[in-house]
Amino acid sequence: MADTAKQDAIALLKADHRSVEGLFEKFENAKGDGTKEKIARQICLELTVHAQIEEEIFYPACEGHVEEDDLKEAYVEHDGAKVLIAEIDAGGPDDDYYDAKVKVLSEEIEHHVKEEEARMEGIFAQARKAGLDMDALGAQLAERKAVLIAEYSANGRPKPELKTFTDATV
Ligand SMILES: [Fe+2]
Ligand SMILES: [Fe+2]
Repeated sequence: MADTAKQDAIALLKADHRSVEGLFEKFENAKGDGTKEKIARQICLELTVHAQIEEEIFYPACEGHVEEDDLKEAYVEHDGAKVLIAEIDAGGPDDDYYDAKVKVLSEEIEHHVKEEEARMEGIFAQARKAGLDMDALGAQLAERKAVLIAEYSANGRPKPELKTFTDATV
């Protein structure tokens, strides 16, 4: 993976988006069950870490600078993704709905990424316009991302923490 230490926050987060989009495409074209499962697990890892660094670092920095409703929707969309990620993680290519779950996750992420990256009104554009220190945030995101990837690769991931779903059973 590319060295992300010097990317500004938006460049880092966009690079994450492109990476996971590439993985979804790979999954669609993959043939064997083993390959599919490997790609799906990588998708789950990358999305989990990405959502977590956004929620821990980037979204809080956006508070007061980005439309509150947009941030709230983003948190709910993250929670929706976390539920599907947990499902995919717990299952495997033998499951009847495995491919469908990965597909729906990719569609949800596509929608979510659009809302973050939209040219004028997206969360990133609003944050940029507000003058947030993207270099400092980028460094924080990169540092946290490296720690989380190392931790989750070594020990597996904990159950997802849902920020907005109060009755979910995952
Ligand atoms: Fe994102
Ligand atoms: Fe996000």
